[in-house]
Amino acid sequence: MTASITSAAGETRPLAAAPDGVDPSLVPKRTLSSGAAIPAVGLGTFGSDRYSGEEIAQAVASAAAVGYRHFDCASVYGNEAQVGAALQAIMEGGVPREELWITSKVWNDRHGPGQVIESCKQSLADLRLDFLDLFLVHWPFPNSHGRGVDAGSRDPHAQGYVHENYMAVWRQMETLVEMGLVRHIGTSNMTVPKLALVMQDAAIKPAANEMELHPHFQQPELFRYVTSHGMVPIGYSPLGSPSRPARDRTPGDTVDVEDPVIVEIAARLGVHPAAVCVKWAVQRGQVPIPFSVKRPQYLSTLQAVVSAPLSDEDMRAIAQIDKNNRLIKGHVFLWKDGQTWEDLWDKDGQVTPA
Ligand SMILES: NC(=O)c1ccc[n+]([C@@H]2O[C@H](COP(=O)([O-])OP(=O)(O)OC[C@H]3O[C@@H](n4cnc5c(N)ncnc54)[C@H](OP(=O)(O)O)[C@@H]3O)[C@@H](O)[C@H]2O)c1
Repeated sequence: MTASITSAAGETRPLAAAPDGVDPSLVPKRTLSSGAAIPAVGLGTFGSDRYSGEEIAQAVASAAAVGYRHFDCASVYGNEAQVGAALQAIMEGGVPREELWITSKVWNDRHGPGQVIESCKQSLADLRLDFLDLFLVHWPFPNSHGRGVDAGSRDPHAQGYVHENYMAVWRQMETLVEMGLVRHIGTSNMTVPKLALVMQDAAIKPAANEMELHPHFQQPELFRYVTSHGMVPIGYSPLGSPSRPARDRTPGDTVDVEDPVIVEIAARLGVHPAAVCVKWAVQRGQVPIPFSVKRPQYLSTLQAVVSAPLSDEDMRAIAQIDKNNRLIKGHVFLWKDGQTWEDLWDKDGQVTPA
């Protein structure tokens, strides 16, 4: 049985819990510095230009029926209106709002005065919610690009990280908390030096940092910084984003789900390598948000999260396969000629000058 979403006529059918699903109360949770609890795994909703908003909304509804309660959204994914219809159906079907964890993000072209607040209000309207559990600054630069552009494309007005400008965005994020529209605020695609500046100047500290995290890209230094400063690390592309678009592929990229260590553990446990990546992530202490519109995939992922943990030996073996292989390099956000994507990530341990 799968959930239904709101029809064109505006009718909804109750959400039925799938008999083969996972009891959401069994899914582990992480506690934020506020004391709130975030489900330790969520469903991503970025279709990478491959899946329509309707397909993703159907997956959200059906994922709720199999036990997901956490959904990672963003205005730039272009599907919040469809996802909102699914969320409405989920709640009308009997899942209380307080059981759900909904994240959204402000896109880079809405960093100006008042725009962060407007963007959040638009996401709330589209998602049909009164508040967000978490609102993130999607990228720390105001550099935007059109849908589906290639890696060589540049915003002619692109600029580097200017802390004063980021804090003007952050003040609007804080205002959203004061307005009661958002319960937590956080960062995404940050580095240690940028986060250190924000930690110094924020009145409301980031509750979470969303960052690329998978076995071949473990970001140990940033992970330690985030966890030791009271933030929850939310891990995107937790399976190594095997179906990402061509613009996010670079020769030399490695494939997590084909790593011999991951493949051996998966074969021994009788699961797909994706399940091993997600189990490792949850046990390490990050919150993975794998994307899928395929029921057998998102169901098996959730089943993996509630099954017996990986052994200490397996966890140690996976810790050793880090290849520092960043997949989402962000070329399109570069702001000067002659730069390489490493400049976006403060490779010298200091914020790259704007
Ligand atoms: N904050 C940010 O800047 C940022 C950046 C990137 C992503 N994100 C978030 O992170 C989410 C996930 O990232 P992602 O989509 O890049 O990568 P991912 O979750 O690592 O990979 C998703 C792909 O893995 C395959 N897959 C999923 N579950 C599977 C399973 N159980 N078994 C086998 N294959 C499976 C699917 O491929 P097929 O579709 O081909 O079957 C799916 O499209 C996004 O949807 C988005 O919400 C955030």
